[in-house]
Amino acid sequence: MHKRNFWDNLRYLFRRQKNFEYSVPSPSERLVLKFIIDQSGLFYEVKKDNKTLFRRSRLGLKLKDETPLEKNFSLVRLRNKSENETWETAWGEEKEIVNHYNETAFYLAETSGKKRLLTLRFRVFNDGFAFRYEIQPQPEFQKLIITDEETEFNVDYNSYAWQIPAFEPDRYEYNYEKTNVYNLKKPVHTPLTLLSPTGDYLSIHEAALYDYGEMTLKLNEKNVLAADIAPLSDGAKAYVSLPWQTPWRLVMVADSAIGLTTNRIMLNLNDPPRGDFSWVKPLKFIGIWWAMYVGEWTWASGERHGATTAHAKEYIDAAKRLGVDGLLIEGWNNGWDGDWLKNGATSDFIHPQPDFNLDEVAEYAKNNHIELIGHHETVGFVDNYERQLEAAYQYYAKHHVRYVKPGYAGSMMVIQGRREWHHSQLGVKHYQKALELAAKYHISLDVHEPIKGTGIERTWPNLLTREGARGQEYEGGALDPSHACILPFTRLLSGGMDYTSGIFDVTNQNKRMATTLARQLAYYVTIFSGMQMAADRPRFYEEVNKPAFKFIHDVPVSWAKTVPLLGEIGVSYAVARKDRDSEDWYIGGVTNGDGRRVRLSLDFLDTGGYTAEIYRDGDGAHYRDNQLSLIIESRAVTKNDFLDLYMAPGGGFAIRLKKAY
Ligand code: NOJ
Repeated sequence: MHKRNFWDNLRYLFRRQKNFEYSVPSPSERLVLKFIIDQSGLFYEVKKDNKTLFRRSRLGLKLKDETPLEKNFSLVRLRNKSENETWETAWGEEKEIVNHYNETAFYLAETSGKKRLLTLRFRVFNDGFAFRYEIQPQPEFQKLIITDEETEFNVDYNSYAWQIPAFEPDRYEYNYEKTNVYNLKKPVHTPLTLLSPTGDYLSIHEAALYDYGEMTLKLNEKNVLAADIAPLSDGAKAYVSLPWQTPWRLVMVADSAIGLTTNRIMLNLNDPPRGDFSWVKPLKFIGIWWAMYVGEWTWASGERHGATTAHAKEYIDAAKRLGVDGLLIEGWNNGWDGDWLKNGATSDFIHPQPDFNLDEVAEYAKNNHIELIGHHETVGFVDNYERQLEAAYQYYAKHHVRYVKPGYAGSMMVIQGRREWHHSQLGVKHYQKALELAAKYHISLDVHEPIKGTGIERTWPNLLTREGARGQEYEGGALDPSHACILPFTRLLSGGMDYTSGIFDVTNQNKRMATTLARQLAYYVTIFSGMQMAADRPRFYEEVNKPAFKFIHDVPVSWAKTVPLLGEIGVSYAVARKDRDSEDWYIGGVTNGDGRRVRLSLDFLDTGGYTAEIYRDGDGAHYRDNQLSLIIESRAVTKNDFLDLYMAPGGGFAIRLKKAY
């Protein structure tokens, strides 16, 4: 008798099914995902309240020198699992997160050829669903070159999408545009937020991105929205060794736009921390930074060099007086002279410019209990950076520098001598390598020009924040007030952002803000970030607008609870958050270029009395010509009260609700 090997046995044990359908409901049963195997391949469909959200959507992977993993599969077995747990975050928008889903894993085997095995794992939550491909090592199948992923997201063609383009020189730093899905001519980044004609809000994204190119989305040859994985320079999507799994393909689902903003599935799909991260501390910091943007100082050497020992000490004194935790110092090292964007191949992360003495600055910072945030501008020259990476972290660790802001400016990276996309498999692997090495030296990161967020900060809490969208450095003409009313529903669904808030010099002709002053305060609540910058020069906080700075001083970075209050994408947004370390609540609100009156119910408050310290636009405030009109006032409130507030065009408000009794 033919002697069966292990895999044959497995196939033999379970009955083969060629045409197969199986539904996985969410715990509430409002969402139902159906997995389908038939002659033409592998598919899924999703309904919400019995309405179709995703029509038959293909699943599959294409491989080099191998038949694609897409059809001729039969079900070997399936395994169901349900989870309902609550876990505690290290820091973030919530202290506790509920992870509640039904899971079905489908173990598939090919009916012909090499009889390869493939697992598709689906999780259906009350507010979305996710799935991934998993491939085990098999006798004739150990290493793969992925050439394409065929995953479709067959949403209604008429849905609106708020999109930024992929494969463009400025990475994720574009203004969002609202278009119909049928008008998506080019690939776009995720999270891709959609409003379907059924009135449902969806956001398509991914979770736990490791060892693969990022998933962008585009209309495929059938005009269905589908995955388009960022390629490597040779055209392959990824080189992988088995076992291997794709990131989770994730769709958040909500009845309203603000419903999306507290979707926590992305974090739930990531693993708990790898090791002890109790040393990670979110913080608020100022920086030797905006002075460069407004032309007072320079990154480069010379008379106006910003990062001098003397300036650093002055800023450390200021940080101490202001009561912020840290100081970022950019332009301290060699590599900034001339056109710094061209210096990336030789940038040096270990030797300071002659007028900057890190020993002295670090000692001074330590004696004054101020954390230093170091800076590595790599210009995307990963080869040059990786050669110095460990030594650069050791250098900082030796000087008690426990935070680093790495930057990857430039449209492409240079990795292994080739020009690669930041979000290709090699880019993803570099960001991960740097993050893990930083963890080894107890260094937390604020990554600029990063790989997009996919929730890996749950596993690596030292990834405190990232940029990854147009931030305030684009002010001075390239930002519209609607931008910050779009971010909470799009980019911020992928995690916190270093927006570099708190510019008080809003009228500076070199870098004029399209905001009012009050709105600069609102950002500390509306834009979550595990590291929050008070980005302006200290004199604007100490001399020009001390009363307004009090809000930045008081506002926490890490929260116990987040309660969205109102919002419409690109129009307005208001959110309340409870401090993680006190009984106080904070509210932030922003509007687009239109003025707006809103009435906020305070029913989210706990029982007892609060003093509401309100920072709001004055009458007549306007982001174009009356930016500084700010009213600061206090009143006693309880959870039974309402607040009636006016937001000026391009304006907003910030409120501290201080527990009184
Ligand atoms: C771009 C970053 O976003 C910005 O914060 C930084 O100052 C410059 N690169 C220089 O590194």
